[in-house]
Amino acid sequence: MEPWFDEAEGQALLDFMKNNRWNISSVSEFEKRLADFTGAKYAAMSVNGTVTLALALLALDIKPGDEVLAPALTMIATPNACRLIGVRPILVDVDPETLCMDLKKAEEALTPKTKAIMYVPLNGRSGDMDAAVKFAKDRNLFLVEDAAQALGSYFKGNRWSKKHLGTFGDFGSFSFDFHKLISTGQGGALVTNNEAIYNKIKLLKDFGRAPGQQDIHDFIGWNFKPSNILALIGVEQFKKIPWRINRKREIYKYYHDNLSQIQDIEFVETDLNLTTPWFVDIFVAEPKKLMDFLEKKGIGTRLFYPAINTQKIYRDEYVGKGFPVAERYGSRGLWLPSSSKLTDEELKYTVELVKSYYA
Ligand SMILES: Cc1ncc(COP(=O)(O)O)c(C=O)c1O
Repeated sequence: MEPWFDEAEGQALLDFMKNNRWNISSVSEFEKRLADFTGAKYAAMSVNGTVTLALALLALDIKPGDEVLAPALTMIATPNACRLIGVRPILVDVDPETLCMDLKKAEEALTPKTKAIMYVPLNGRSGDMDAAVKFAKDRNLFLVEDAAQALGSYFKGNRWSKKHLGTFGDFGSFSFDFHKLISTGQGGALVTNNEAIYNKIKLLKDFGRAPGQQDIHDFIGWNFKPSNILALIGVEQFKKIPWRINRKREIYKYYHDNLSQIQDIEFVETDLNLTTPWFVDIFVAEPKKLMDFLEKKGIGTRLFYPAINTQKIYRDEYVGKGFPVAERYGSRGLWLPSSSKLTDEELKYTVELVKSYYA
């Protein structure tokens, strides 16, 4: 999943530096592009997609002693962002159809301390967002969508014709690290339709400084501002999104068309009219063996996230409590080469090797 930059990013950086464009805010331009692209009213960029999750919880006034529901199958940043601000993440098993949080299981995990749900559209696939929004609303919970892997992915429901993931809850959080659809090296952003909490995010990420650049601090805040230099790269990357979405979908389709007949390989159902898979994920009995086989042939793959409750840092809290779906998929998942930069020949080579392994 190599990142992909070219002359356009280089030229933009050179122009920025040579012409002393320090007072031009490429962060604002990046934020405007993200808001327009997702259809959110506001976007606020920050340093990465872990900090954005913690900022979202802070802006919603979630405090130590509160609990936040998080899926047992996700990247570790989702629960760890809660821990960063001293809040306890409560794990919930996922739905085998979508690998997103199972709302029936979420019901069982509620306590009087539950304040919010971190909903993760894993690999750009969402569950029923209408149901997730209703679940949160009926129980007076905040909904934070960890949409780090969902840029270019949508949900279509009874109430929406097609709506970008990350725009259903109080906040949607995105990541722009090296492996994402587009990258700023490291970077993250929140989107929201709520002006009050958007303003709070701006304060929290800028030392709590009153608007207008004066050093007046009525709020506690820190420095979680992104760099204009990285945002400039992001602005150029944004121009490449339509092509990349198309290519990512083609790549997923190619693997699916060629490998889904193999009995030993499971794909999670993916609607490519709505989803832009971040990585191509397959689920097999012994993914490490397939990984080693491919590695010997020069193909890099990556094992899926183990279920969060099996990680050493969370294990003790969940002794005797299983999350069978998260554990099943977490132990079987393998990410195949998925960069939008891959050529058709490279894809074909990988597919032939996987086929030969199972033959
Ligand atoms: C679901 C999810 N949440 C959060 C993050 C963290 O984002 P970042 O690496 O920008 O901190 C990631 C990163 O891949 C992710 O996949």
